[in-house]
Amino acid sequence: MINISSLTKYFGKTRALDNLNLNIKKGELLGIIGPNGAGKTTAIRIVCGILRPDSGDVTVDGYSILKDPIKVKSMIGYLPEEPNLYERFRARDLLRYFGELYGVPKESLDWRVSELLELVGMEKRARHRINTFSKGLRQRIAIARALIHDPPIIIFDEPTMGLDPATSLAIREFIDGLKGEKTILLCTHYMDEADALCDRVAILNNGKIRDMGTPEYLKAKIHGDIILQIKIKSPDIDINEIDALDSVENVNLKGLNLSISLSSKDEISDIAGLIGNNMLSINTKEPSLDDVFINSVK
Ligand SMILES: Nc1ncnc2c1ncn2[C@@H]1O[C@H](COP(=O)(O)OP(=O)(O)O)[C@@H](O)[C@H]1O
Ligand SMILES: [Mg+2]
Repeated sequence: MINISSLTKYFGKTRALDNLNLNIKKGELLGIIGPNGAGKTTAIRIVCGILRPDSGDVTVDGYSILKDPIKVKSMIGYLPEEPNLYERFRARDLLRYFGELYGVPKESLDWRVSELLELVGMEKRARHRINTFSKGLRQRIAIARALIHDPPIIIFDEPTMGLDPATSLAIREFIDGLKGEKTILLCTHYMDEADALCDRVAILNNGKIRDMGTPEYLKAKIHGDIILQIKIKSPDIDINEIDALDSVENVNLKGLNLSISLSSKDEISDIAGLIGNNMLSINTKEPSLDDVFINSVK
């Protein structure tokens, strides 16, 4: 559905995208995860026709963003990283205004606006002005605005950044509800968000894809099944001794935190024996996308 091919983009001497290739299938929710400055927003802005790449192209349903920008834009709903809403508008009027701009037929516009306000839980605030809204309420209106023309593709740039946990959860649930029905590209630096929502995840760093796959695949690939987290009292410890055990795949010591990935639980007691009195606490955890991420960008 979306075909990103060989995108390169410089800002002055900064290379924001470095020959980026990515395919997003119809009906898929694809996540792009990456730290600040990875190039996520730049990639999205090129897909949406806001920025021109230095080289490469993006096609959406076969249409090129460079050759058919109007056609491509009509197929995409875009939630920018920092949505700019017209402060003095009332919520309903703002959506009506954008509906007209996007060519929503007049006879269905009122109905469409009401439906969207309800969908994002803002029907009671339809007559309130944008400048009275909190960040979370603005984000809901910005999402409704992105959906106004009922596009088959929706692109979310950091949809929950800086929001309180309850609003973040509501927005994640909302995105989850669109799954299957829409083709979705979601950029986030929250690994748990990507893990919970995405069918596939691409890890972006320095403008390049470092790894890609389902969250399960990525987690299984990087680590064994188990991660042992041990707090120690003193950093005076021989990690090579632990690394030499059969089931130990990786040992990582940061300050007084020892993180060990294991292919099985068989030797946990041997590890505990090696650390002995130096051990303060021990915990096991399932690998998360955070672990995958840290491994693939380091
Ligand atoms: N308009 C711009 N002018 C100059 N540099 C930019 C601009 N937009 C992005 N960059 C740079 O490009 C790189 C990628 O940025 P961005 O795409 O915003 O990353 P992300 O969204 O992953 O945080 C960064 O180094 C950033 O500073
Ligand atoms: Mg960004």
